[in-house]
Amino acid sequence: VHPPAPGSRPLSRVTLFDGREVWYVTGHAEVRALLTDRRLSADRQLPDFPVTMPRLAEQGDRPIPLLGADDPLHNRQRRTVIPGFGLQRITALRPTVQRVVDDLLDRMLAAGPEADLVTAYALPVPSTVICALLGVPYDDHEFFEHHSRRLLVADTAAEAAESRDALRAYLGELLDRKRRAPGDGLLDTLLADPSGILDAEELVSTAMLLLIAGHETTSNMISLGTYTLLRHPDQLAALRADPDLTRGAVEELLRYLSIADSLVRVAVADVEVAGETIRAGEGVLLATPEANRDPAAYADPDTLDVRRSARHHVAFGYGIHQCLGQNLARAELEIAFSSLFARIPTLRLAVAPDEVSVKPGGTVQGLFALPVTW
Ligand code: HEM
Repeated sequence: VHPPAPGSRPLSRVTLFDGREVWYVTGHAEVRALLTDRRLSADRQLPDFPVTMPRLAEQGDRPIPLLGADDPLHNRQRRTVIPGFGLQRITALRPTVQRVVDDLLDRMLAAGPEADLVTAYALPVPSTVICALLGVPYDDHEFFEHHSRRLLVADTAAEAAESRDALRAYLGELLDRKRRAPGDGLLDTLLADPSGILDAEELVSTAMLLLIAGHETTSNMISLGTYTLLRHPDQLAALRADPDLTRGAVEELLRYLSIADSLVRVAVADVEVAGETIRAGEGVLLATPEANRDPAAYADPDTLDVRRSARHHVAFGYGIHQCLGQNLARAELEIAFSSLFARIPTLRLAVAPDEVSVKPGGTVQGLFALPVTW
């Protein structure tokens, strides 16, 4: 995608890698309006659904639950999983998150004074927590972390398909084991649901979505958020001086970094927006990074300001697909940042800032590694 210049119209036309033209929506108000418009579909199986990266060219013939479903199917699926992610459930999980964070920091400090923050902290925090929540054995983390990452950064559709199949096979077997010997995770609850709302196929796909979304995104936010705070020492100092700023700082980092690049939809009927007509069959990319830096929505949007009110950002999307895991992600980010900077006040980058290896983007932005010292 070649994004339009900042400050230009809220809607532009851009050309994808395969030569197709789609709409690129950068206005904050327009992104929110379109994300609640039922004339845009998230169904990847529709023939006109835009392919934004080569690896997404071959999605397989299985539908993606939740993320790739329209109502009423989407509503049915979401209702089955939402109890696992409600505020009450996540508040109860906070002590577990704190324990995981404390253990990892103990280990990092004992092995220090240097570490790759991604492998020592940013990845294991959300990975351990989502395993506990779903009832997936953390011992298998290297396997599912490897394939999840590969699925998100693969250069080709064949490579992505290989990792997707490996994850499906793994989760299919895990669910079979759970059918014989149930545990107490969310996957066990879904399996035991007497209404049988999710069929066997949906269960595997849903487990896969929750496992990937549950660790990759938050891990990228922890690593990129830490990098960003280290690069803004005045903001980090303000945060250290007043821990009450943590909650707002997490929202501001979500807005400022907007790691979920573009949300993708296809129009199923004509839609008029900002003086333009999106025709049925046309692709639409909703650019969260630009919408979250729209000067009409945020003053001085390119400045990181942990004291600002970053409310109404679209880093978790908006409308029916708004992130199911947002309560969990917020809890993890608040605990991860506040504990990291409290326990290691002298934390700093161990390499030059431009030597940090950045993921290719195109779905979720993040870092491959973050060498730090203290
Ligand atoms: C900071 C971390 C996270 C960010 C930035 C993030 C971002 C997003 C965004 C932008 C969407 C909307 C996609 C769309 O409209 O096309 C979304 C949906 C979703 N997220 Fe997250 N997410 C994060 C963490 C999590 C976690 C921890 C989980 C836990 C399992 C999760 C599970 C989901 C699911 C299941 C959906 C689909 C919801 C639906 O379609 O109804 N996410 N996320």
